[in-house]
Amino acid sequence: MLENPKRYTITAALPYTNGPIHIGHLAGVYVPSDIYARYLRLQGKDVAFMCGSDEHGVAISMKAKKEGITPQEVIDKYDGIIRKSFLDFGISFDNYSRTSSKIHHDTAQEFFRKLYDNNDFIEEVTEQLYDAKADQFLADRFVTGTCPKCENPEAYGDQCERCGSTLNATDLINPKSTITGDTPILKSTKHWFLPLDRYQDFLQKWILQDHAKDWKTNVLGQVKSWLDDGLKPRAVTRDLDWGIDVPVDGAEGKKLYVWFDAPIGYISATKEWAAREGKNWEDYWKKDDTKLVHFIGKDNIVFHCIIFPAMLKAEGSFILPDNVPANEFLNLEGNKLSTSKNWAVWLHEYLQDFPDKQDSLRYALTSNAPETKDNDFTWKDFQARNNNELASIFGNFINRVVVLTNKYYEGIVPAPNEFSDVDNQTLAELKAYPAVISSSIERYRFREAQGEMMNVARLGNKYLADEEPWKMVKTDPARVQTQMYVALQIAAALQILCEPFLPFTSNKLSKILNLDKLSWSSVSETSELLKPGHKIGQAEILFSQIEDIEIQKQIDKLEATKAANKAENAVIEPQKEASTFDDFSKLDLRVGTIIEAEKMPKANKLLVLKVDTGIDVRTIVSGIAEHFSPEEVVGKRVTVLVNLAPRALRGVESQGMILMTNLPDGKLVFVNPDGDGVQNGALIS
Ligand code: 2FM
Ligand code: ZN
Repeated sequence: MLENPKRYTITAALPYTNGPIHIGHLAGVYVPSDIYARYLRLQGKDVAFMCGSDEHGVAISMKAKKEGITPQEVIDKYDGIIRKSFLDFGISFDNYSRTSSKIHHDTAQEFFRKLYDNNDFIEEVTEQLYDAKADQFLADRFVTGTCPKCENPEAYGDQCERCGSTLNATDLINPKSTITGDTPILKSTKHWFLPLDRYQDFLQKWILQDHAKDWKTNVLGQVKSWLDDGLKPRAVTRDLDWGIDVPVDGAEGKKLYVWFDAPIGYISATKEWAAREGKNWEDYWKKDDTKLVHFIGKDNIVFHCIIFPAMLKAEGSFILPDNVPANEFLNLEGNKLSTSKNWAVWLHEYLQDFPDKQDSLRYALTSNAPETKDNDFTWKDFQARNNNELASIFGNFINRVVVLTNKYYEGIVPAPNEFSDVDNQTLAELKAYPAVISSSIERYRFREAQGEMMNVARLGNKYLADEEPWKMVKTDPARVQTQMYVALQIAAALQILCEPFLPFTSNKLSKILNLDKLSWSSVSETSELLKPGHKIGQAEILFSQIEDIEIQKQIDKLEATKAANKAENAVIEPQKEASTFDDFSKLDLRVGTIIEAEKMPKANKLLVLKVDTGIDVRTIVSGIAEHFSPEEVVGKRVTVLVNLAPRALRGVESQGMILMTNLPDGKLVFVNPDGDGVQNGALIS
């Protein structure tokens, strides 16, 4: 771990522009990286926080094919949406670039060219999967098949999302083209391979020895398993029509592999920013006193810990990451977040429903961040975090301090009198917090850090609750001045300490307290953050309560998604064997009405029905009790098979059968006649 770096280059995984972004992206990558960058800036550090849209690769081409538009139209659309979401949630990139930009194409090509000139690639003609119908080679997401390692039948040509293995398309068992569904054939083609095996020893030492103590266990574990398997050469070019041209002779029509160009996007984003800001980009990528940190999700570990470092090492003039604090995944209400299944909370949609609650989501996601294991986001937890923590603890404390200061002193910070032991202890405790929070942030433990920040609000709440200035304002005004002075110092400290986590709240607090942004260290180093005589502003609600009805709306929305997915995946049974007209006419089907119903004792599934069939009123035992209560079915018009041979169910003779069908979500419904005038007993033919 680099001690006392002079500057920081912080990168956040470049999102693919094939869809909008959701809470999983925010929780796994963008909120933690933003907390880190904001914290460092408050420390006065030199920070370059880089990100951008990842606009090449098969994911984009597939989306374009699906929507019947060009890849350029796809990336322009989603780059706009994603960019806006980041802005809306206060993700404070110093630059958000695009890999379709000229500066990126030039940078990626120059990088490739340098490795090519150094003889760092193996050039080889190999047999690759080819879809003859689509007249196209199949790589990456254009091909799926069974993972040879974990037998996941839906592994992609470059990666299995279930076990995390990186694959070559030819490794897949039973490969299928995702373009035509056909089984591909093998066809020869030339490609350039990065011989990762040459970097095995270097990676082994650099990560598993040098970083054994400071990298996260989940990251070390994945790296170790790849290294144990033995690294193999990996193709970094593709036969595709969307991407960056391979800049060497004999590579006409070929493109760079998206995972070759994407991480170089961090470098081109830095170049673009440096040119704009009058800085030297090389300081941020080539100087040993720069700390480079990559924030990513766990599916990107191999690319950032093995492939990109091997590329950087081969190039020779770049620094390597000091850390890659990858997160695990966030689930939503117990199920894996999925763009294709629309199982997500999309950021742009969230903001339509909760327009001023960016910090509430940031807070809930950090409280529950998947730092060491997969975690679950639930709407109920989100509501509880907002109502019971942000509103009841943080908001309540600030509100009390501001309201009382305005009430007692017309908003002027009072001069303190003699401090009591409790005052001294409280102020000393306050001063210790920046170091505690720093220590967690610097070890990439953002949940823990945010928890400590909330403890500052708890400290303030407890101080006011114990001191009860409102009880002695008339009898001992001198003491109340001191109490309010102490409480105001805590409020001012919160304005700084909450900034990395709750930037919108920090801005509001800045306005309420009429206080400019201070530095992180001022909390521990300055004897007073708010001086006597300073005038603060009026109270403002920082966090309003979220009502049950708002949460129910979100839960209903997810239920609707579930039902729609079930409907889409509903299996339509194949047609049965042919039957003759005689077979059919043997069945006596009549319209009837259920006139009585009761549960069959000791049977969960059965209702005992009395049905008016027009011929008679008879008993029918029906297995519908898990779908209907007896009260619900009385009066229902139904279709009855009346000549089914009677049979005894739990000792009750059933004299027929009621016809039912299923809704896509599995719920049973009656098949009933369309038409009010149809009489009981009417024959169905
Ligand atoms: O997994 C993804 O969404 C990739 N687009 C991440 C790229 S990170 C970087 F290398 F650019
Ligand atoms: Zn697998």
